[in-house]
Amino acid sequence: MSCGEGKPCLEAKYRRTALVVLLLMLLIFLGLSAASFIDSRNQVTPDTVSFGSHEAVAGKRVFQAYNCMGCHTMVGNGGYLGPDLTNTYEHAGSAWLAAFLPSAGTWPTSAALKIQLQGQDHAEDSKTASLDDYYKKYPGAAERVQRRGGHASIMPNLPLTADEVANLIAYLKYTSAMNTEGWPPKPKVDGLTFKYASPGLNVASAAAVPAVAAATAATAEAVADPTIHGAQLVKDYACTACHAADKQKLVGPGWGGLYGSKVTLTDGTTVVADDAYLTEAIRNANAQIVAGYTAGVMPEYANMLKNDEVAAIVAYIRSLQENGK
Ligand code: HEC
Ligand code: HEC
Repeated sequence: MSCGEGKPCLEAKYRRTALVVLLLMLLIFLGLSAASFIDSRNQVTPDTVSFGSHEAVAGKRVFQAYNCMGCHTMVGNGGYLGPDLTNTYEHAGSAWLAAFLPSAGTWPTSAALKIQLQGQDHAEDSKTASLDDYYKKYPGAAERVQRRGGHASIMPNLPLTADEVANLIAYLKYTSAMNTEGWPPKPKVDGLTFKYASPGLNVASAAAVPAVAAATAATAEAVADPTIHGAQLVKDYACTACHAADKQKLVGPGWGGLYGSKVTLTDGTTVVADDAYLTEAIRNANAQIVAGYTAGVMPEYANMLKNDEVAAIVAYIRSLQENGK
């Protein structure tokens, strides 16, 4: 731009304005950069949250490595196949998460939860080792166990190690502590008070009573025959979340045809799967680890199962052929 003959020259003025605007932008930029170092409005940060000795930052890495976001949302971002996980820790607590995550293909039962509560980190985190108190503190855990415990879930079993699970719990603890400004909102459902709405959904509970009576009768019969008792115990204790009755690998090795076979351990030695080996494998899972699996995934049942219960489970495993019959 150049000044024409006889016209007012504005070039210097425009240039000055541009410089002033540029300076203003620079000031805003520097100001905001400085402000980013100020602690944010009492927001919790991941480096301050831990579960036992496990840090939320490490859990975030596990969350990314397994691409949990592919199926789950976190504060609304991510995939929609599974539920949002922002507040799962707050609702269900660390012990429920520890019972669920390693064998996510099946929802945890109360026995599975009870075993986790024996762990020191969980007892410290929830400040109780009693299942009843835990349920009071985390009603979401009680609800999940009651509604779906022992049933198949549509989340796949992921090969998570015990450390990774604990890291994930630390991360979910952090996301539960985040200030999400009231998100997610409570859904406002007006439909049920609408006068033509169907009342039909919640009337089925009377039908459940005969089923309970039948189950009690089945338990009495089961105690008489250790194999049947064992079959019932592995369901109650949710061993079946990790072990199939045939040769199939779920989270742990399948039990079909296991009895009497040769098992290779991680240290390269072989043992015969007899009564003594199975008893030890159930009571102290981490004493001997089957080759191809990691330690710490299977809970320790030594304080949980009585000797005759372990014997009944061994009798049940002994009865299983390769096809699971
Ligand atoms: C292939 C998809 C998929 C992936 C990957 C996945 N999940 Fe899930 N997850 C699901 C589905 C689906 C459900 C709901 C299961 C149901 O309702 O039966 C679920 C349920 C859950 C729940 C229970 C939520 C609740 O409110 O009860 C937790 C916790 C969870 N997932 C954590 C994780 C974590 C942590 C990872 C990553 C390590 C992960 N999931 C990876 C699909 C997935
Ligand atoms: C969270 C998953 C999980 C649960 C729950 C679980 N296990 Fe395991 N189990 C494993 C894994 C993983 C292994 C292999 C690593 C090892 O040897 O500890 C295993 C190994 C075993 C073995 C040795 C198998 C072999 O091929 O030598 C037996 C027996 C066994 N479990 C029985 C049980 C019984 C009985 C229960 C319930 C009271 C149970 N498990 C609950 C994951 C689980």
